[in-house]
Amino acid sequence: MVDIHVTVNGAPHHDEVEPRLLLVHYLRESLGLTGTHVGCDTSQCGACTVLLDGKSVKSCTVLAAQADGAEVTTIEGVASGGVMHPVQNAFHQEHGLQCGFCTPGMVMAAIDLLQRTPHPTDEQIRIGLGGNLCRCTGYHNIVKAVKAAAEKMAPAVAEEPPRQSIHTPIGVPIVH
Ligand code: FES
Ligand code: FES
Repeated sequence: MVDIHVTVNGAPHHDEVEPRLLLVHYLRESLGLTGTHVGCDTSQCGACTVLLDGKSVKSCTVLAAQADGAEVTTIEGVASGGVMHPVQNAFHQEHGLQCGFCTPGMVMAAIDLLQRTPHPTDEQIRIGLGGNLCRCTGYHNIVKAVKAAAEKMAPAVAEEPPRQSIHTPIGVPIVH
């Protein structure tokens, strides 16, 4: 077993975990934070995206032990004082979700994208969210939602050079 200290959504946690335990399973099963979804378990869908020390990661590709000493933010931690995060609000306003399964991961990836690129073009949004798949294929409204959130958030964040995503552009639905 491995001893870990991790701060999740601002709350400190100290646990003993199996070395092979994935962060997504630690969040969902040990902490009960089921807003982080498991869509594929193979690093393809992005439904499990969380922020690890402020940067988006697929939590099915990270061991819980690797989060020792880190700060993790999940979808449960982005609203403040009962008020939705601007990205959450924009997804609601712009109909950026259908079944909602991909939405927590999309929101977390979009928050990271807007921290790095406060004024993204449509293409930058599609590239930035390239690692997140929506099986309902609601990509157009997701892009609109991220643009709307950018307009609300831009004055509060500093411009950083855009970063190339390691993922392919969104737009191709998964067919199982
Ligand atoms: S569950 Fe992690 S990428 Fe799909
Ligand atoms: S809204 Fe259903 S998978 Fe994206």
